[in-house]
Amino acid sequence: MKIMMSACFSLLLIFQTYGQNTYSILPQPAKLTPASGQFTFKNNTSIVLTKGATSFASVANMLSDQVNTSFGIKLSVKNGNTKSNAINFIYNNQLAEEAYHLKVGVNKIDIEAKTGKGAFYALQSLFQLMPAQVFRTTPSNQTASALACSIEDAPRFNYRGLMLDAGRNFFPVAFIKRYIDLMAVYKLNTFHWHLTEDQGWRIEIKKYPLLTSISSIRKESMVGKYDDMKFDNTPYGGFYTQEDIKEVVAYADNKFITIIPEIEMPGHSQALLAAYPQLGCNPDKIYQVATKWGVSEDVLCPREETFTFMENVLTEVISLFPGKYIHIGGDECPKTQWKQSRFCQDLIKKLGLKDEHELQSYFIGRIDKFLTSKGKRMLGWDEILEGGLSPNAMVMSWRGTSGGIEAAKLNHDVVMSPNDYFYLDYYQANPKTEPIAIGGDLPLSKCYSFEPDLPELNEAQTKHIIGIQANVWTEYINTTAYAEYMTFPRALALAETAWSPKAEKNYSEFLKRVQKQKPNMDALKINYCPVEFK
Ligand code: ACM
Repeated sequence: MKIMMSACFSLLLIFQTYGQNTYSILPQPAKLTPASGQFTFKNNTSIVLTKGATSFASVANMLSDQVNTSFGIKLSVKNGNTKSNAINFIYNNQLAEEAYHLKVGVNKIDIEAKTGKGAFYALQSLFQLMPAQVFRTTPSNQTASALACSIEDAPRFNYRGLMLDAGRNFFPVAFIKRYIDLMAVYKLNTFHWHLTEDQGWRIEIKKYPLLTSISSIRKESMVGKYDDMKFDNTPYGGFYTQEDIKEVVAYADNKFITIIPEIEMPGHSQALLAAYPQLGCNPDKIYQVATKWGVSEDVLCPREETFTFMENVLTEVISLFPGKYIHIGGDECPKTQWKQSRFCQDLIKKLGLKDEHELQSYFIGRIDKFLTSKGKRMLGWDEILEGGLSPNAMVMSWRGTSGGIEAAKLNHDVVMSPNDYFYLDYYQANPKTEPIAIGGDLPLSKCYSFEPDLPELNEAQTKHIIGIQANVWTEYINTTAYAEYMTFPRALALAETAWSPKAEKNYSEFLKRVQKQKPNMDALKINYCPVEFK
């Protein structure tokens, strides 16, 4: 009996250590080979930067800091040869930029990468092999251990993005940093920061101070459903100073996240016009920062003065954001005012354009040329395709996948962000029991079901799909807690589709991994939607 019990106990241990379910890393690594036992971090465990790996020092320090914060164990970081009772960082020039090998043995941990970014992703996987305590910020004397295994991993897509709309509602720097932290845990690498909207301009531009003193403030906000037309009679505002932006960009860089700023034009510009009405088609109009959600008719007029203004704005934006892409919106630009404008109609004739849609293309084309001349690549919503684009421009497909398909066929790089799969402002559970949202129906399963390999595209065209992105539009999301709620756990579906091999895609396995993230998300104090955890 005793023998049987101990046999059962051993089996249980083997199951716990070897069982597929025990290793629950999200996104699922490309290849994970189970091993027996675990590595235990002790006070005399060290972190070793071997020859060639000294540039991974900042990542090594992150490991040291996180283990110190959560377990109270101080791991010293030194240069030297690989050794036991250590986490050894090893340079491997055979690996791709974001790839890594992680070998957790009973005696040592080896992390191989070619870049700090690869080493950083190894670290994210290592943390998910450890107790959830590793994500807490108050230390416990619980054993700090990591399950033994061997991982060879690299992402499926180079672009793994999340967008946050800071225009409709403003989110403080501390939250932006937290959002970046949470993205990094799940190996997302691009934060698209939507900074200007009809309802608020959120970035300081030194040359045009009215953008912050006037355009960043609306006199009130809508409350409840749009159709109710109720307002709170309370001024609302906020903006990021250039110092804030520099701080966030540096913070994100440290977490290997690139920030793409979005400066909307020629539509979604009502807030800008409230301060600089001379850039609209009707300079005598009294424009106000929008208080209603929806698409505003008040758009920029394609005058020389407007181009000069926007180029000056972009020059400051470029100086703040070192990434290669600048997003210029380009979506939802109603043409009513251009139709009624003598100036626009004359310009259409002068340029030999067919209509206002070609005028929009002219607008976008000029901005595209400007950004290209500054060494940047323009990115815009799929409307920028209308009327032709420079080969350099990249398209973000939001009205389903058709814009992205068309763009890829024209050899443009594409980020797929189809609204019906990746608009995280849509309901994720029963609207009757959920907090108010914009509408839609986007449960976790649907978000996970998006497959970026599309039958409409051949192999060469498919290579233009450089990644995927989910978007958190914030008309109805006016607290940081609610932003997290709408983001999680659906961001995990995005992360897994963006990172893990296509062949590994399996919703029921994914859902188990999501459920196993609960202790980690609790430790990280994420305010996730609980519907998948009941
Ligand atoms: C968008 O949702 N208008 C890009």
